[in-house]
Amino acid sequence: MSDSAQSSVSLTVNGSNVSVTTDPAVPLLYILRDTLGLRAARFGCGEATCGACTVIVNGRAVMSCDLSVGDADGADVTTAEFLGGDPPHPLVETMLEQQAGQCGYCLSGILMRAAALLERDPAATRNSIAEELDGHLCRCGSQGRILDALETAFHRAKGKQVEA
Ligand code: FES
Ligand code: FES
Repeated sequence: MSDSAQSSVSLTVNGSNVSVTTDPAVPLLYILRDTLGLRAARFGCGEATCGACTVIVNGRAVMSCDLSVGDADGADVTTAEFLGGDPPHPLVETMLEQQAGQCGYCLSGILMRAAALLERDPAATRNSIAEELDGHLCRCGSQGRILDALETAFHRAKGKQVEA
């Protein structure tokens, strides 16, 4: 049996250009974690039903277990590593300040979807944040606290917009 066809795929990941030679059918999640060593996006279900693997692709939150790297060729990808700078992204800061998570397994995916929403609609209400996060599971049952923290972060971002 022959190996599956390999091809070269180019991505911009967290602002850096990368090129990988791979079977283009491999999920983007595996390339991020196993080839590029970016472990923030997590493997939960592998079936686009938990949200743990969510990253931002061309400005949209995407479950990276459900997108082949071939289909992501040329894309601009942002992972949760990008939110952890010094100082951290305001969403991360608020999440830490309020100790919203428990084990944290779900958090990077939730943060990426929230970051995409914040970029698109900083005035999003608690209800619309909750609606946006509907496909994300938290096995620790911390959804309420996570939502509280996100609501605070969105309020702060909105306040900064009004001040500017
Ligand atoms: S691992 Fe991708 S949605 Fe669960
Ligand atoms: S904090 Fe543990 S899965 Fe959400």
